[in-house]
Amino acid sequence: MADLKITWLGHAAFLLEAEKKLLIDPFISGNPKAPCTPEDLDPDIIAVTHGHRDHLGDTIAIGARTGCRVISIHEVANYIKSKGVFAEGMNKGGTIEVEGVTLTMTQALHSSSIDASGFSFDGGSPAGFVINIGGCSIYHAGDTGVFGDMQLIGELYEPKIAFLPIGSRFTMGIKEAVKAVELIEPHIVVPMHYNTFDVIKQDPEEFRKAVESKVDTKVIIMEPGESIEI
Ligand code: NI
Ligand code: MN
Repeated sequence: MADLKITWLGHAAFLLEAEKKLLIDPFISGNPKAPCTPEDLDPDIIAVTHGHRDHLGDTIAIGARTGCRVISIHEVANYIKSKGVFAEGMNKGGTIEVEGVTLTMTQALHSSSIDASGFSFDGGSPAGFVINIGGCSIYHAGDTGVFGDMQLIGELYEPKIAFLPIGSRFTMGIKEAVKAVELIEPHIVVPMHYNTFDVIKQDPEEFRKAVESKVDTKVIIMEPGESIEI
């Protein structure tokens, strides 16, 4: 049996299932590509990269229903706690261990806010995570542009798998994401944050060709709802 099952739920949302179930950026309601409903999800942990609606998503509803632990940057965690949901704050460069799963928070070149009822709350700053689960190290970059210290993330944490945005406009596009793969040098890269909406339309096959012409990293293009086993 595989040690780790990875399911892409569309956009930046992934479900990682080993001994514990970790859900990242559960944007399900309002996601036209979502393969399930928030009620289908029963995680032990939710990790949120930043406050934007397409990442914070259904975190509060799922957290309230399941009592799972939510991990995010301090400011987003405070907002989640204010809604009566159990959240633990952390910050960049730090690591937290939750039920045998470790999460290290990384830099991301982006913005963050929490939009509610026509008012924006401070969402701290955006982040990514390096996650150790099921004996596998995974880098979820969050929403980000490319930055040179992705090389440092590669050196320090040696992620086997990287989830990288390729949709452009709000994050890296293909050109920048290919550079990110060269800096991180993961064994496998899974593109994300594209084709959810027309404004982030992208051809993942173009990304695959560009990556595989430059480095040994394998590109796995997933469909929303599809799982791979590692
Ligand atoms: Ni964002
Ligand atoms: Mn986003």
